[in-house]
Amino acid sequence: MTDMSQLASSLKASINSLPQLSFAITTLDSRFLTLSHTTSGSHSPFPSNHQSHPSSQPSTSITLNSLVQGFLYYLEEKTPWQGHIVDICYKESLTEWSRKYVVDISSSSATLHQTVEKYQLMLRKNEHIHICSSLDVEHSQKHHGFDDYRFVPTTLSDMADEDIDCSVTFLNKKFSCPFFVTSMCGGTDLSGEINHRIASICSHLQIPMGVGSQRIALDNPKCAKTFQVKKTYPKLFLMANLGISAFTSPQALNHAQKAIDMIDADALCIHGNILQELIQTEGQRHFKGLWHYLETCATHIQQPLIFKEVGCGIDVTTAKRLQNCGIQALDVGGAGGTSWGYIEGIRSQQTSHTELGKHFRNWGIPTAESLHILASSPDIHIPLTATGGIRNGITAAKACHLGASMVGLGLPILQAVMKDIQQPHNAFSHLKTTLNTLIKGFRIVQHLTNSASIDDLKRDGILHHTSKPTP
Ligand SMILES: Cc1cc2nc3c(=O)[nH]c(=O)nc-3n(C[C@H](O)[C@H](O)[C@H](O)COP(=O)(O)O)c2cc1C
Repeated sequence: MTDMSQLASSLKASINSLPQLSFAITTLDSRFLTLSHTTSGSHSPFPSNHQSHPSSQPSTSITLNSLVQGFLYYLEEKTPWQGHIVDICYKESLTEWSRKYVVDISSSSATLHQTVEKYQLMLRKNEHIHICSSLDVEHSQKHHGFDDYRFVPTTLSDMADEDIDCSVTFLNKKFSCPFFVTSMCGGTDLSGEINHRIASICSHLQIPMGVGSQRIALDNPKCAKTFQVKKTYPKLFLMANLGISAFTSPQALNHAQKAIDMIDADALCIHGNILQELIQTEGQRHFKGLWHYLETCATHIQQPLIFKEVGCGIDVTTAKRLQNCGIQALDVGGAGGTSWGYIEGIRSQQTSHTELGKHFRNWGIPTAESLHILASSPDIHIPLTATGGIRNGITAAKACHLGASMVGLGLPILQAVMKDIQQPHNAFSHLKTTLNTLIKGFRIVQHLTNSASIDDLKRDGILHHTSKPTP
């Protein structure tokens, strides 16, 4: 049994001795210790030998991973206890940031060194959420390619609103409309709450939902509950998620099956995010063996495998190869929306990586272009979905016309749900309003193009490429 008062005074002494750092112990009980931390100015609060990259310049922008690693190493060296961080929140502006560390001090089975990897995944997820909900992280030109097209509206309509049917069938399941919420969250308390809120509305609207990468829960089964929304929403069409780095070892099949079983998933999304990994300071740089393990998984796993990009698009050659491996649907995940290279640059403490993030902010095949080249390729026969910069019903309708069976959104959904979480007493639901506005916008396009069904929209809707002369 940890002696709490001894622990508190030992921690206080350690913390007070850190230069430029002010931590306050705000709560301490038998399990959780909460530390609040605020600092300002451009100095890293840790001595350089505790930073992962001593040569880099500390900056007021985010240095979270190294900061927390430094914190853990420091506590491990200076204090007689073991524990692990279970959640972290922070707010920041250019000159000030503050964080709350909640540390589980009941765990005594692992040393901090052994579990740093686990914290990294949890920290990274919360960092992604906070960065995405507070900074501009989209491609700076927002060039998803859909603005190059415009529908030719029919001037008059003889339809009533109730004549419009926007239901679709995807992977042999019927959905009320062609929208889904794409893979984002899970693994931390905050992202578990986000998943549960998204699941509630997706289940109500009868549309699919993806969870974020489950690697965190494969490493640490305690996190699985943050992904397990089907217990509450059994009818929800739920998509599991793992990154391609999970498909580069003989463990691939085992991991893929575990991810599906963990959440009773209806499909598994495998995300390709090579640019993100290459810019992420702690990212994977090794993708050898990928095709072999993807094929093994596609052969043995019952549920459909969907390959998705996260913002760089899919080229025809890769698409053909994925199809030949047995992948059953492709999400083009094109450029123009959330920029993962840029986000990793923001997260990185290394100036060179921050610069690289800026250089690659607009990298990739725009979503509309990737969709168009795959949909018009005579060799691609599997269904396509579109994510990457879809922000309203008009863009979504253009995506359907260009060949998408379904259209997914990430960032706007995350931002809406975070507003709801931050305003718990406000009855207005940003999440519900965001999705309902999208669906309404989509139906208005159907009405304006005289398309009673999505098949009508695909067949009869006329979409002009605005840079090409209109006949
Ligand atoms: C906060 C956040 C976390 C994400 N985490 C994952 C993830 O774990 N796995 C994944 O496949 N994609 C992840 N994504 C990427 C999205 O699924 C999507 O591919 C990408 O954000 C592009 O869509 P958008 O422009 O609508 O945001 C994440 C996106 C956001 C905003």
